[in-house]
Amino acid sequence: MDKLLIRGGRQLRGEVLISGAKNAALPELCAALLTDQPVVLHNVPRLQDVSTMLKLVRNMGVSAERDPNEQGGGTVRLNAGDLTRPEAPYELVKTMRASVLALGPLLARFGHAKVSLPGGCAIGSRPVDQHIKGLQAMGAEIVVEHGYMVARLPAGRTRLKGARILTDMVTVTGTENFLMAAALAEGETLLENAAQEPEIVDLAEMLIRMGAKIEGHGTSHIRIQGVEKLHGCEHAVVADRIEAGTFLCAVAAAGGEALLRHARGDHLDAVIDKLRDAGCDVACAQDGIRIASKGAEQLKAQSFSTTEYPGFPTDMQAQFMALNVIARGASMVTETIFENRFMHVNEMVRLGARIHVEGKVAMVEGVPQLSGATVMATDLRASASLVIAGLVAEGETLVDRIYHLDRGYDRMEAKLRGLGADIERVTGATA
Ligand code: UD1
Repeated sequence: MDKLLIRGGRQLRGEVLISGAKNAALPELCAALLTDQPVVLHNVPRLQDVSTMLKLVRNMGVSAERDPNEQGGGTVRLNAGDLTRPEAPYELVKTMRASVLALGPLLARFGHAKVSLPGGCAIGSRPVDQHIKGLQAMGAEIVVEHGYMVARLPAGRTRLKGARILTDMVTVTGTENFLMAAALAEGETLLENAAQEPEIVDLAEMLIRMGAKIEGHGTSHIRIQGVEKLHGCEHAVVADRIEAGTFLCAVAAAGGEALLRHARGDHLDAVIDKLRDAGCDVACAQDGIRIASKGAEQLKAQSFSTTEYPGFPTDMQAQFMALNVIARGASMVTETIFENRFMHVNEMVRLGARIHVEGKVAMVEGVPQLSGATVMATDLRASASLVIAGLVAEGETLVDRIYHLDRGYDRMEAKLRGLGADIERVTGATA
């Protein structure tokens, strides 16, 4: 299993190209299931979750190929014309919860689908009850059998029917499943309490290119007029705001100056506000986001609470905490979205951080210096936060189990090396 070896203490300088968003690419690969025509996606990041999703759709009988010899943001060509197995097996779903995104499109196009229940995951129980409830409101019959959600339309029906869907909480993949299902449903669907994340907007724009009729995406009320058929399209995946936010935190903590090309400042308002309050210089322009930071001694710790977009993203909580642990002063980090998302804390403490967790709140007391150690990545964003901590720690930090990082970051260590970090991948077995 691969590890990352980081020798801390270097400032980060230069340019880095931000990849397409994992959380947009995954639903968009599933949107290709809605049509029997070719779909071309550009700017698809090279990461493990995308490979898993490609495996998943190929397993259904979809042809899905990456253009060969492409550097960085690649193009993927999909054709679900010969899809014969509208199923997502446990072996693939258990490694990636986002596989549940296949349910809405499969059910809408074929009238039946069988998708494994995802089970638990490191950051919390993460049920899919809202996905089921919403699709049931659209007329689907869904039973759970042998660990699978088996969904079908009632006898005599060939399409889902439009419905008003009010979820108990804001759910990102839930909203995406409903958007895709409603695009092919009969009549109008109104999503109330819809997620407003930029990835939802990007998916809606792709669906509109396929012929869907959608209004209100980017707000909490989305209206979809179902159409009988969707056609193929070409679409470029929006830049990854979480990858960009991670690099912003890395430069802020390590000090230095960088341009994050393709990053969208307007998708990161909450994080950028906090970085400015912490003392960093951040400028958003057409070509990306620029950041300059004098490093740890000049950073002021910032309290924040994670909320749905446009609030502070839960997917940035761990990385910003890495900055707080070496900043001046005390801060309070409150996680409101997932119940178990402080698993990086104990690892950061091994590096010398002072953090005390009580329920949803982590109290952080900034320390002048971290010291390198071996730490273990426990989930995707936690891994990124440990890399940031390693960049500022004195001496060597070895981040173990970085397969979590590879799930969601496109060649992170190569990009950090490009900015001057002393970081290398060590391949080999874990202890
Ligand atoms: C998506 C993102 C993930 C991000 C999260 C919150 C993708 C592929 N993943 O995950 O990176 O951290 O949004 O921004 O886009 N919930 C239920 N029942 C449901 C659905 C959700 O109880 O049926 C709960 C979850 O347990 C969680 C909250 O609702 O506490 C929000 O989850 P949700 O927005 O659905 O997260 P994901 O879409 O899985």
